[in-house]
Formats: sequence, C-alpha cells, structure tokens
Amino acid sequence: MTGRGLRIVLLGAPGAGKGTQARRLSEAFDVPDISTGDIFRNAVTAGTPMGAAAKRFMDRGELVPDDVTIGIVRERLAQSDAAAGFVMDGFPRTAHQATALDAMLAGMDQTLDAVVEIAVPREILIERLTQRRSCTSCQASYHLMSAPPKVADVCDRCGGTLVHRTDDSDKTIVHRLAVHDAQTAPLVSYYRGAGLLHTVDGTQPIDTAYEAIVAAAASQGGGRAA
Ligand code: AP5
Ligand code: MG
Ligand code: ZN
Repeated sequence: MTGRGLRIVLLGAPGAGKGTQARRLSEAFDVPDISTGDIFRNAVTAGTPMGAAAKRFMDRGELVPDDVTIGIVRERLAQSDAAAGFVMDGFPRTAHQATALDAMLAGMDQTLDAVVEIAVPREILIERLTQRRSCTSCQASYHLMSAPPKVADVCDRCGGTLVHRTDDSDKTIVHRLAVHDAQTAPLVSYYRGAGLLHTVDGTQPIDTAYEAIVAAAASQGGGRAA
C-alpha cells in the first residue's frame, strides 16, 4: 500500500464532529479536507454569486441543490492535491450525490477506503451546536465548554475571529437535523451495502474518536500516515 493515501467519507448529523475529525485526518495523512459546507461558507465570505445562491439554502437549513454541490466536488477532486486522497466532510448528503461520487471515483480509477458514520445522540448534537464557535478564517470548530479556545473569540490555529454560525440558531438546528434524517441518514445503509461502512461512537473524547476512525480506515487497507 506504499504511496496510497487516505480516501474516506465522514457521515454524521450536524454537530457529530465531522469537521473536527476531518481537519485532524487531513493534517495527519497529508490529504485535503474537502468540506462542502466550508466551501460554501468561503464563497459567502468572498461574495461570489455561488455563495449568494448557497446562502439562501444554508440560512434555512436546507441542502444546496445537488447539481451545484456535485459540480463543486467534481472540480475540487480534479485538483492535483486530491490525487493522493481526501477526507470528505459533509459530502455526499443525498443518494444522488453518493452515486455521483461513485462515478467520479470510477472515472479516476479510485475507490473509497472507508465510510465512517460518527454517531451522536440528538440531545448532545443540539447542545454542541448551541455551544459551538467557528473560525471565520480557517473554519476550525470550538466548544465553549469541552474545547474552548485559549483566548476568548480568537482561533488557536490561525488567530481568526470566532463566531456562532448563523445556521446554529435553535430553529435552524432542528430543521437541519430533520433534513439530515430524511436525506442523508439513508446513506448509512447504502454504504453498508457496499461493505464500506464503519460506525464510530462520536460521544467519546475527540482523540479517542479520532483513533477509532483511523483504525476503521486501516482495517479496509487505507490510511498511510504521511
Ligand atoms: P456543514 O457545514 O457540513 O454543516 P453540518 O453537516 O450541519 O455539520 P456541522 O459543521 O454543523 O457539524 P460537524 O459534524 O462538522 O461538527 P463539528 O466538528 O463542528 O453544512 C452546512 C450547510 O451547507 C448545510 O446545511 C447545507 O445547506 C450546505 N451543504 C453542505 N454540504 C452540502 C451538501 N453535500 N449538499 C447540499 N448542501 C450542503 O463539531 C461540533 C461541535 O462539537 C464543536 O463545538 C466541537 O468542538 C464539538 N465536538 C466535536 N467532537 C467532539 C467530541 N468528540 N466530544 C465533545 N465535543 C466535540
Ligand atoms: Mg462541519
Ligand atoms: Zn482559524
């Protein structure tokens, strides 16, 4: 497996810890962290037309339409840094996105090493999103109680400003969770059927959950630390 990077999809409800784990995996395995949510938020900050269109869906807790999202991932996967692998955070999120990813990877003669579902009960998800603060520059996540920044409202990684995401309001959180249950949760059985699914207890400490994800990828033959 020498020279083989990590190709992994992280599934999980809003607040499960996808972004937290994707950033760690990306740094440890030297593969890009492809977060469609981060790509959309960066486009909103940059004021692009795509960002403005995406913002209307994100602020309501709805999914951005598949054609837009799939096109973005196709472009991102074509960049040279994704040749050795990737960590997908928040994509795919619909059955159509999952089959589109299969086709993209087949076209690149690649396969997934593993799909890891990060499982967390609903009441903990709501508490995490309510207490989360996110960096406007590098998108790192903090939690006011369990993972606070060293200096209030300042990102440890990049010095950026921390904010409470606009879609982390009580009402939008509830809708995002419902959208997840209706449209994304069915991907668990899709990937179980493909023999790729692993479920990790996302209520464990961040380090323990990380080790479980790495072990899941390794058990499928993926994951060579850079
Ligand atoms: P996106 O940005 O992907 O949001 P999400 O899926 O709702 O997930 P979150 O980012 O809220 O949670 P996370 O799992 O990353 O958790 P985190 O690591 O931050 O998507 C936003 C929007 O963009 C969507 O609603 C949609 O509109 C659009 N979009 C994105 N992708 C799309 C797609 N494919 N198709 C269509 N539309 C799309 O952790 C949460 C908190 O918990 C943090 O405070 C963290 O510090 C804490 N924490 C993490 N792990 C632990 C732990 N083990 N123990 C204790 N605390 C922990
Ligand atoms: Mg996230
Ligand atoms: Zn930052």
